[in-house]
Amino acid sequence: MKILAIESSCDETAAAVFTDDGLLSNVVASQTIHEKYGGVVPELASRAHQRTIYGTVGQALSEAGLSPADIDAVAVTQGPGLMGALLVGICFAKGFSIAHRTKLIGVNHIDAHMYANFILEPPVYPFICLTVSGGHTQLVYVKEPLKHTVLGKTRDDAAGEAFDKIGKILGLPYPAGPVMDAKSRLGNPNFHTFPIALPNDPFDFSYSGLKTSVMYYLRDNAPAPEQSEEHNKWMSAQLNDICASVSHAITESLVLKLRNAVRSTGCKTILMAGGVSANSMLRAKAVELAKAEGAKLYVPPMQFCTDNAAMIAVTGYMQAEKGLFTDLTMKPYARINPK
Ligand code: KG4
Ligand code: ZN
Repeated sequence: MKILAIESSCDETAAAVFTDDGLLSNVVASQTIHEKYGGVVPELASRAHQRTIYGTVGQALSEAGLSPADIDAVAVTQGPGLMGALLVGICFAKGFSIAHRTKLIGVNHIDAHMYANFILEPPVYPFICLTVSGGHTQLVYVKEPLKHTVLGKTRDDAAGEAFDKIGKILGLPYPAGPVMDAKSRLGNPNFHTFPIALPNDPFDFSYSGLKTSVMYYLRDNAPAPEQSEEHNKWMSAQLNDICASVSHAITESLVLKLRNAVRSTGCKTILMAGGVSANSMLRAKAVELAKAEGAKLYVPPMQFCTDNAAMIAVTGYMQAEKGLFTDLTMKPYARINPK
């Protein structure tokens, strides 16, 4: 079985090839155009996908040493994501499947983040997975391949969204998550206590209150932005400590709910997935948690944590093994998971 995969749900145009021999290629073209807007601009994302997709797919095939005629099925992100961006990938995949007579597989982006853990060394079932990305934060219990139960999710902002929005308030570039991570390593996580939301709910998360409390903290402590020199001086003196304290609040809440999930299910395999699982504080806390609970922890290598097509390819491969193909009537879904 030879799978070509395409990912275009947000601001990465990506293509990969996965076969019975494993991952043969993984190409990611990141869009830089959004940086100056402090967030992804959907229309610009669609246009950039349109410009890049042909070359990205071509590169993935050539790095795999395959031609389109060798491909058995094309897997593509069906959702959730930006509608226009998804359409570029889906239309390309449909065109490819018609032209080269391949099967078509629609893949859920959030499931794919989780199955990124299966690209190299597949974990054993059952497992708990904490999926933390820019758009989603959820805890799932997975009993067998492609069958999972959602235990908890965020009630408002996703963890990555919290990093990005708070980073924007702190004047950091988009996406702020990796920048906050780097600054946090130089700061004191106990400098200021930011609130951890929903401490009594076993599995759900909430991050919009944290964003508000950072705004209040700045309002009450930082010199007014109009006094720009003093403000900037104050900000640069506190920035590492504020980043570390915010990262502490976000990661503590994630690990708290993850611990609840592990204890309530008795599951001894823990997975993390999504862009935020690249966070060093979260990784360190998850390692500690796994040790304390006698569990084995899996976190994908960095390149498979953020958006990529290798995760779409491996999930597509698993779907193909179960005969779960789509047809040309496949439609993108922006938010809801239609399962
Ligand atoms: O999974 P992903 O690439 O895209 C989505 O599907 O959303 O995740 C992107 C998110 C962004 O919010 C980004 O700021 C965050 O992951 N992120 C991080 C780190 N690396 C990426 N957040 C915290 N620490 C990091 N090291
Ligand atoms: Zn993602």
